[in-house]
Amino acid sequence: MVAAALCLLFSTGSYSQDGEKLFKANCAACHSIGKGKLVGPDLIGVNDRHPEAWMLKWVKSSQTLVKAGDAEAVRLFKENNGMPMTDQMLKDDEIKSVLGYIKDKGTAAATPPAEKVADTPATAATGTAGSTSPAEEKKAQGPSILNMFSTSEYLLFTFAVFLVVVVMVLSSALKRLAEASK
Ligand code: HEC
Repeated sequence: MVAAALCLLFSTGSYSQDGEKLFKANCAACHSIGKGKLVGPDLIGVNDRHPEAWMLKWVKSSQTLVKAGDAEAVRLFKENNGMPMTDQMLKDDEIKSVLGYIKDKGTAAATPPAEKVADTPATAATGTAGSTSPAEEKKAQGPSILNMFSTSEYLLFTFAVFLVVVVMVLSSALKRLAEASK
């Protein structure tokens, strides 16, 4: 049962799914992907406009970059009439999955994202996903337990623990029933 719960846990971390949720919760109020400018610029193709390392810094605190005199940040800030992008309380992993989602979304019509195939429970269970599963990648990146899993994985883990408890209670009830009917 514990093994099953772990399988469940490790099979869930689809970048694009997490990225989509995170994007909708944190960015969609100000950004669209391919539907034009909202408060901030359309983010379609943004992965080609900036290096990833720059965007990790930008998303966490765009004004820190602007104040530090980063040419690209100052240009963007001016282009948007000095409307600052608010700091986003996201971890590197989470920003990367949002960026992955933006990339997928931009190319979705042409090719379905390849990660989705690798993340099905079946492949994870047979071990073909192996060390390349996103959950394990995250684990490798962050020394802190907080960095290991995304919010949805925490929820899933809680649910798995809940399931284990339910099964234990049920099986002891069944045992008692069987004993009573002897
Ligand atoms: C409160 C509104 C707001 C939210 C929420 C927001 N942004 Fe922004 N964003 C902006 C504005 C405004 C700009 C334009 C730059 C400026 O004025 O500082 C921008 C610029 C950007 C850029 C540079 C765009 C380009 O064309 O080069 C990126 C990348 C970006 N945001 C990513 C994100 C991501 C990812 C999130 C969610 C985690 C997010 N933003 C959430 C307002 C927002």
